Amino acid sequence: MDKLNAAVVGATGIAGQQFVAALAGHPWFEVTALAGSERSAGKKYVDALSKGSSLQWFADGPVPEQMRSMVVVDSSQLDASKFDVIFTAVESEVAKRIEPLYARTTPVFSTASAFRYEPDVPLMISGVNLDHASLIEAQRKNRGWEGFVAPIPNCTTTGMAVSLAPLAKFGIESVVLVSMQAVSGAGRSPGVLALDITDNVIPFIDGEEDKVIVETKKILGKVDVASGKVADAEIDVATSCNRVAVREGHTESVFAVLKDQPGLDEVAKAWESFDPKLGVPSEPRPFITYHRDPYRPQPRLDRDACNGLSTSVGRLRKPGRFYQWTVVSHNTKIGAAKGAVLLAECLKKKGYL
Ligand SMILES: NC(=O)c1ccc[n+]([C@@H]2O[C@H](COP(=O)([O-])OP(=O)(O)OC[C@H]3O[C@@H](n4cnc5c(N)ncnc54)[C@H](OP(=O)(O)O)[C@@H]3O)[C@@H](O)[C@H]2O)c1
Repeated sequence: MDKLNAAVVGATGIAGQQFVAALAGHPWFEVTALAGSERSAGKKYVDALSKGSSLQWFADGPVPEQMRSMVVVDSSQLDASKFDVIFTAVESEVAKRIEPLYARTTPVFSTASAFRYEPDVPLMISGVNLDHASLIEAQRKNRGWEGFVAPIPNCTTTGMAVSLAPLAKFGIESVVLVSMQAVSGAGRSPGVLALDITDNVIPFIDGEEDKVIVETKKILGKVDVASGKVADAEIDVATSCNRVAVREGHTESVFAVLKDQPGLDEVAKAWESFDPKLGVPSEPRPFITYHRDPYRPQPRLDRDACNGLSTSVGRLRKPGRFYQWTVVSHNTKIGAAKGAVLLAECLKKKGYL
């Protein structure tokens, strides 16, 4: 099979680097262009990654050999029509500007929030709500695009939503989330200062709580093909998002009221047997890693389960009305680049690429 020609935009950032790492040697996608801001344009990728003599490479392993010398293109000069697929990892304001230009000709998989809340834009997690892909036709028709924009959810939403998906059959009435989010989730620009986060917990992340509430209801909602929209799930969601001194991996305490009152063994079984059978190269197996050890999951031990694509769940209990559990989800892998690559694989398998 010929590989699809791919570009990564925002390739120097935290999520962009994870795209570069995830796509190096990928069996279906070949990265032939890296794009960035005017700051990086015209530089070799390794030079664009460097501040003075310090290489600001964040992803695992070395910078992939085939990307090191690629000359970074200005994102506004990228000719989208030359690519079969474009992966973007830029701030929302930039995404709002460039993603519609690319989508005129080419499918765009985005880590930014710019289009997540538009009615004709599906907000998908592979294995959870891929049926929402049917909105892509409405999006193309409404906007006159040959391509489309497929954003992935906020990295905090992803962990909780994956843990909720197998429990939807029990009737989810309400959910409360308390997150302990890794520093890398803030990216490099502006990022979080070491002086502020070391020996500290910051009890506010601008915009995050509203994103998790709105996104969770959209992801777990039902797509209505006729109206070209998603009817939100009727779940009462409350969130409290905190930044903690962890490098990668968001930890989440989740409290949920389930209408059917399943036994704890039924809940555990729903997670352990959850197998969306995606049949694509990055598919994590198991999709959910369920822990019985009460000291798990932990970000340091569990964020890299199945290369950062499996969602780790544990500490299941029900002391009163609430089912309670803990989630660890890798914010820059399943929650960003690898989640977007997995989604692109799934949509390719469904014939959208
Ligand atoms: N970090 C995470 O865990 C995570 C998780 C999920 C979603 N996200 C989302 O992913 C996006 C990127 O986040 P990040 O954490 O990777 O941020 P980041 O580390 O600050 O990187 C942002 C990158 O955007 C690039 N950029 C700025 N202006 C640009 C332009 N006009 N054209 C092309 N590139 C431009 C910069 O590239 P130059 O070096 O070329 O200036 C920079 O490297 C955000 O929307 C964020 O919300 C992040």
